[in-house]
Amino acid sequence: MKPTILAIESSCDETSAAIIKNGKVVNNIIATQSVHKKYGGVVPELASRAHQQNIVPVVKTAMDDAGVNMGDLNAIAFTRGPGLLGALLVGTSFAKSMAMGLNIPLIEVNHMQAHILAHFIDDPKPRFPFLCLTVSGGHTQIVLVNDFLEMEVIGETQDDAVGEAFDKCAKLLEFPYPGGPLIDKYAKEGNPKAYEFPDTEMQGLNFSFSGIKTAFLYFLRDNKAKDPDFVKKNVNDICASLQYSLVKMLMQKLKRASNETGIKEIAIAGGVSANSGLRAELTSLANEKRWNVYIPDFQYCTDNAGMIAMAAHYKYLTGHFSPLDVSPEARMKI
Ligand code: KG4
Ligand code: ZN
Repeated sequence: MKPTILAIESSCDETSAAIIKNGKVVNNIIATQSVHKKYGGVVPELASRAHQQNIVPVVKTAMDDAGVNMGDLNAIAFTRGPGLLGALLVGTSFAKSMAMGLNIPLIEVNHMQAHILAHFIDDPKPRFPFLCLTVSGGHTQIVLVNDFLEMEVIGETQDDAVGEAFDKCAKLLEFPYPGGPLIDKYAKEGNPKAYEFPDTEMQGLNFSFSGIKTAFLYFLRDNKAKDPDFVKKNVNDICASLQYSLVKMLMQKLKRASNETGIKEIAIAGGVSANSGLRAELTSLANEKRWNVYIPDFQYCTDNAGMIAMAAHYKYLTGHFSPLDVSPEARMKI
């Protein structure tokens, strides 16, 4: 069986479509929504409307670019959740209508599973079982991956996601949304030991990022009271120190997960895996701990339909299809 599948991603603020042919992701078309920038975060209603505007041109571009006609498709895949309900509804309804119109199978994909399966798009691919640190704007999880579709969350955040912590702290620095990449940019020029931020002790393999966000708020308030230009003068050091603390919290739990499970195949996934501090730390730990580390190509770190297509391929091969009355789920577990 050599399926050709169209995959659609619309869980947050990227409208994306990809074609996968016989397990090879042919393309990965992404329309990013700039409308949210001035609001300092994703506005769900605006995201939903932008998906409606983008979805037809994005799907058409993916199909034309791959030289695929409607009749060539064997299945339509879509992100069922987790994500913003109104945003998910657009991709879900579109995928359902196409599958119904073409009378071909419909495949629902879990967005978090897909972030992990992005590792199977290109070489080198991790070997099972492996651990995946999934870090995005909505999630922070350590997942034990036993097989393509057999995964178990062994640790996760009890409050904010690490991407959310990056973005909220960036907002306090008056950076536009999403501020994570900007913190990364300034951090490259700064001293990571310039300031210290407390980390919250959490049980087992769980995380908490709300404490550091509050500490950062008071840190800025107190320093700005002494010197109104504090941020302007020290932005590189502030970003480097904040990033260092966030990455340290992630690495502590990842090391613990590896020790407890004895697994040395380590992957990272999700938008925050684009962070250069995290990548550098992981590469140095790989040497120190003799881990095999897997970091996806940049375009497959943030939200994209290529990863949905990869997940759909494995679901197609194992006959995991969805009924046409399937509805999106904002809070969907792995
Ligand atoms: O996976 P993703 O695209 O969307 C969600 O499913 O949430 O992740 C987006 C998150 C945002 O919080 C963004 O600030 C963060 O990933 N991000 C980064 C970097 N690039 C993206 N955070 C830190 N450093 C980066 N270079
Ligand atoms: Zn995501």
